[in-house]
Amino acid sequence: MEKMKMETPDITARNIEKIAEMFPNCITEDIGGDGKPRKAINFEILRQMLSDEVIEGDEAYEFTWVGKKAAMVEANKPIRKTLRPCKEESVDWDNTENLYIEGDNLQVLKLLQESYMGKVKMIYIDPPYNTGNDFVYRDDFKQSKEEYEEEQGVYDDESNRLFKNTDTNGRFHSDWCSMIYSRLLLARNLLADDGVIFVSIDNNEVQNLTSICNEIYGEKNQIGLIIVKSNPRGSMSTEELASLHEYLLVFCKNRQAINIIGHALSEDMNNEYKYEDSIGNYRLLGLRMRGGFWRRSDRPNLYFPIYINPNNGEVSIEKNEEYSDYAIPVQPSTMEDGTWRWSKEKISEMSGVLIAKKIKRNDEYVWDVFQKDYYEREGGRRTKAKSIWEESEINYQNGTSEIKKLLGSTSFFDYSKPTYLIYHAMEMIQMNDNDIVLDFFSGSATTAHAVMQLNAEDGGNRKFIMVQIPEETDEKSEAYKAGYKNICEIGKERIRRAAKKIAEENSDAKFDGGFRVFKLDDTNMKDVYYGAGEYSQLTIDQFVSNIKEDRTDMDLLFGCLLDWGVTISQKHSMEEIDGCHVHTYGNGAITDLMACFDENIPESVIKYIAKKEPMRVVFRDSSFADSPAKINVTEIFKMLSPDTEVKVI
Ligand SMILES: C[S@@+](CC[C@H](N)C(=O)[O-])C[C@H]1O[C@@H](n2cnc3c(N)ncnc32)[C@H](O)[C@@H]1O
Repeated sequence: MEKMKMETPDITARNIEKIAEMFPNCITEDIGGDGKPRKAINFEILRQMLSDEVIEGDEAYEFTWVGKKAAMVEANKPIRKTLRPCKEESVDWDNTENLYIEGDNLQVLKLLQESYMGKVKMIYIDPPYNTGNDFVYRDDFKQSKEEYEEEQGVYDDESNRLFKNTDTNGRFHSDWCSMIYSRLLLARNLLADDGVIFVSIDNNEVQNLTSICNEIYGEKNQIGLIIVKSNPRGSMSTEELASLHEYLLVFCKNRQAINIIGHALSEDMNNEYKYEDSIGNYRLLGLRMRGGFWRRSDRPNLYFPIYINPNNGEVSIEKNEEYSDYAIPVQPSTMEDGTWRWSKEKISEMSGVLIAKKIKRNDEYVWDVFQKDYYEREGGRRTKAKSIWEESEINYQNGTSEIKKLLGSTSFFDYSKPTYLIYHAMEMIQMNDNDIVLDFFSGSATTAHAVMQLNAEDGGNRKFIMVQIPEETDEKSEAYKAGYKNICEIGKERIRRAAKKIAEENSDAKFDGGFRVFKLDDTNMKDVYYGAGEYSQLTIDQFVSNIKEDRTDMDLLFGCLLDWGVTISQKHSMEEIDGCHVHTYGNGAITDLMACFDENIPESVIKYIAKKEPMRVVFRDSSFADSPAKINVTEIFKMLSPDTEVKVI
């Protein structure tokens, strides 16, 4: 039930609404006297709308909104967080190179910056569309909890940052823009030079999203806006038009570096290659120019006869006894003279791939010339990806039924994409072994499913990184009753079951169906940055160790990897040497990192590690009794492994 306002109406707001009705382009969002965002009038545009002369003023080609600068600051602000490994919830921890990360993606993207900079080949995201019903996580734009509360009335139990973004919010679009802007800024750093990002979106924010991507990735790096026919029967959610589609916006990091290979041919396309000669199968492409400058008057030098050997259809530019018949380019419906696609020189050079055939033109059989377009090509025959995707597999209902088949109920997750959508996007990019696919709005983990499916089918070895906030499921929901307390539980179970199903359906296929789970948490380190006056005996005692008591060796190891810019999906082993736990980390011939976090590490262990000559070594600061002990460690490494970088935490 709506609450009574118990206050007089806001006349200014009413006036603004009246102007908005007449001049919607004059409406903007700004910050009011109380420091809060509100709907406002852009007077410069209003003056222009009421004048028939150009009014002087500052004009700039830019796209901005309330909070854009704050979103930039937020993206760049350091955080004191870490990712804690969770072996119990992982699958095949020791061998897998896939990751499932639980936490707010803004913070997770920050933590991945060093380790994954320039390493991600493809990003797919399906963010909240800002439909007016979405729950959005607002980042800490310096607003207090009380301010959120007062402004939104809705917040979640865990972080107090979840709110329902309805169009009555004074900065309905601005909030969404800020949310996506900071994340896309950070995501760009992770993309490889030849990397591509796909973003699912609908009408609500497609324009703002495109403007933001143009700014972050550069207009020249826009590959296109694909129309995805996701709902052939039409959605009822729009009032006047039944919406049949949504979009997939595609950008790349560097257009010069990408390798977009398009899609395999459909069955119909394959059937076109029905002719065969000693080289192989081919289809026929007419040599007459269609469309564009096709008239003889447009390109007179491309109008000439091609001579034909009537016995075998071979062609020549020269007329002689053998080549006695001829063809000329004629537009069949108007009988106007046309042009060939190739010059005389090219035809002479390439005559081996040309063939003449008799065709029926106005009840008469005449010669025409065709190019043999062979099927075999390096890397297989492919066709350019299309700007409209309307295959039946792309229907949104397939997403729902996949969840039902795998998890047993359709209602566990509402907006899962069909696996085919992401599979199809992945297929159009040339990928190599170990290329990483990232989805930081992963929901029910459809992207992970698509990666495993395609790997199983084409023998590829792509890796996935899923990021999902542990958004709680409603206590009354089917998902909650089935034991899924948050969306991450649904995502992880979907990957487990999808891997099993793919393995059953592709018994010979080898693919990585495991994943390592990490959970976002506060830093492993205690806050030691106290002002001098703030120390008490108690705090000094606490700081004998600068590491939080509940943190394990594994927490510390993975914290160090992220800090040092090492990827977190490599092999790890632990051995006991003279009573100490020695960790070895890395996939390559040279060990990436070795660590020992025990107290009072004996010299024998230091020497054992140094002799392995790893690239990096890390100990606890408190592992050494005093400064001479630390100097001794430095000396041992100088002697046995001078190139190793040694650090303490
Ligand atoms: C539209 S759904 C994605 C659905 C997914 N493509 C699928 O097929 O299942 C968007 C997801 O992003 C998650 N999300 C929203 N804000 C997030 C944030 N700040 N960090 C991580 N995940 C977030 C939501 O919980 C939701 O699961």
